[in-house]
Amino acid sequence: MKIKLGRNDQCWCGSGRKYKTCHMAFDEKIDTYRRMGHIVPDHSIIKTAEDIEKIKESAKINIAVLDYVAANIKEGMCTQEIDDMVYSKTIEMGGIPAPLNYEGYPKSVCTSINDVVCHGIPCEDEILMDGDIVNVDCSTILDGYFSDSSRMFMIGNVADDMKNLVEVAHKSLEVGLSAVKPWGFLGDVGQAINDYVKSNGYSVVREIGGHGIGKEFHEEPFVSYVSKKGTEMLMVPGFCFTIEPMINMGKCDVLVDEDDDWTVFTKDGSPSAQWEIQLVVTEDGYEILSW
Ligand code: MF3
Ligand code: CO
Repeated sequence: MKIKLGRNDQCWCGSGRKYKTCHMAFDEKIDTYRRMGHIVPDHSIIKTAEDIEKIKESAKINIAVLDYVAANIKEGMCTQEIDDMVYSKTIEMGGIPAPLNYEGYPKSVCTSINDVVCHGIPCEDEILMDGDIVNVDCSTILDGYFSDSSRMFMIGNVADDMKNLVEVAHKSLEVGLSAVKPWGFLGDVGQAINDYVKSNGYSVVREIGGHGIGKEFHEEPFVSYVSKKGTEMLMVPGFCFTIEPMINMGKCDVLVDEDDDWTVFTKDGSPSAQWEIQLVVTEDGYEILSW
């Protein structure tokens, strides 16, 4: 049973203030959207100011780890060396790599090269070669709070069409971000990204998307980048999620490796690129927390 908070009760957000002077109007506004039939976020995924500070501490590590990878990644290196860098840097800074043992995932980071869309598993015999594009996806746990972001790296001389794919994937984040505003919908973000990517002749992966994040690695909702404007979850201040569209040069179809059950490939063998940021919706827009 859930008892409705009284006006003079303490607010659910932990501010210590009375409900009526804290989140009451906020909840009423969300309720009007719910009554109109929209998907709305539950309190459990809305972050307080304190939560955001904790996520930022976690993200400091995540960003530093990706900066460290950026400074050291090079041709001839195996992807296991990237995993070693991520593990040691994260631990040195007091964090825990979130992927390690997550639902049985065996490593500390995902390294996805060329036609690997995401969840590539680092290993000794996979060497970064001249012309490769690789996504390094890092996630950190600090004091129970999660951060998650990924970047693309281009190894040596990358062909122009692959460079363009990496750039369009990056620009699609900016296009998605410009559709983020409080009391808008996640579908606004999805449609903006999909329209932009399609206009560049590429496709957006449908089956894998972003997610809410903060106190768990993957919280509600699933964030699609092929959704429609005005649909999907209402974005409210304190809602924290990732924008991480996977962009294929060819068709959008993907397959999962049957041997490791993790590695996702493009079905047509075309290259795929992805950048990921973590953000929180604010009263007047958004704040990027990890990149
Ligand atoms: N970092 C990925 C994401 O963006 C999740 C990877 S799960 C793992 O959601 F287990 F493969 F690491
Ligand atoms: Co993510």
